[in-house]
Amino acid sequence: MNVNRRMKHPGSKGVDSVSAPTEREMIRIVGLSKWFGRFQVLNDINLVVNRGERIVICGPSGSGKSTLIRCINRLEEHERGQIFVDGTEVKSSSKDREIDAIRSEIGMVFQHFNLFPHLSIKENCTLALTVVRGMSKAEADAVAMRYLERVRIPEQADKYPGQLSGGQKQRVAIARALCMNPKIMLFDEPTSALDPEMIKEVLDVMAELAESGMTMIVVSHEMGFARMVADRVIFMDGGEIIEQNDPETFFNKPQSDRTKLFLSQILKH
Ligand SMILES: Nc1ncnc2c1ncn2[C@@H]1O[C@H](COP(=O)(O)OP(=O)(O)OP(=O)(O)O)[C@@H](O)[C@H]1O
Ligand SMILES: [Mg+2]
Repeated sequence: MNVNRRMKHPGSKGVDSVSAPTEREMIRIVGLSKWFGRFQVLNDINLVVNRGERIVICGPSGSGKSTLIRCINRLEEHERGQIFVDGTEVKSSSKDREIDAIRSEIGMVFQHFNLFPHLSIKENCTLALTVVRGMSKAEADAVAMRYLERVRIPEQADKYPGQLSGGQKQRVAIARALCMNPKIMLFDEPTSALDPEMIKEVLDVMAELAESGMTMIVVSHEMGFARMVADRVIFMDGGEIIEQNDPETFFNKPQSDRTKLFLSQILKH
């Protein structure tokens, strides 16, 4: 790890200009750097994700994977560089309504589900539809049921999160995100808190979503999923993208020693 890099202060200069994102690009990240205080968590990240592309990001704990995807929907602010989502720049000066507009295009699924425990499964799905989108209850219920069917748990609609298994809760979280009709889905280790027997049911739902053409960025160490579903696998370490490739090349011919070491560690489990 380069200690000097990590101690650098954020400068005031950003990237001066970049060519405009093209029609086929859903996300464009240029020269993205971010600090937590004096600690540089992301260093000069450059990444273009095309419409319908499926990206899997892996890398050791603390390498900046969550921070990177959280910057895309402004759950974290970046200090340097540019992020475009469907042609709109995510800036520190963006107004609340601009951020809301960007967020409305992005669904996010977290490791720990983040469901409201006091709301039923259906209410968890309809809350944003009625409050943010202004839908009637009947309309929102219909949308919620459509997506609960899609993740194969319509029969759980009237239960509460505490009554569901981890795999079911994560499928609710996916359904809830899909209710908002996003153009992009971001997943942050969606299966790492699950018991092994529940991982497959969640990955199956995600694979179906991928087949439907959704643009997806998935932080995951499920390498079987990456091999099957990803168009591209990205390896991050120390706040940088170290290597990226199609799954076949990534797994069979990793280039960097750091990638090789990482793969040897996770694939032996
Ligand atoms: N809010 C914060 N304030 C200060 N440091 C933070 C904050 N969030 C994350 N960090 C630090 O930034 C680094 C990257 O964190 P991040 O959560 O992005 O890593 P990660 O690759 O997702 O790791 P993991 O695999 O453990 O989830 C870590 O060293 C972490 O401690
Ligand atoms: Mg993380």
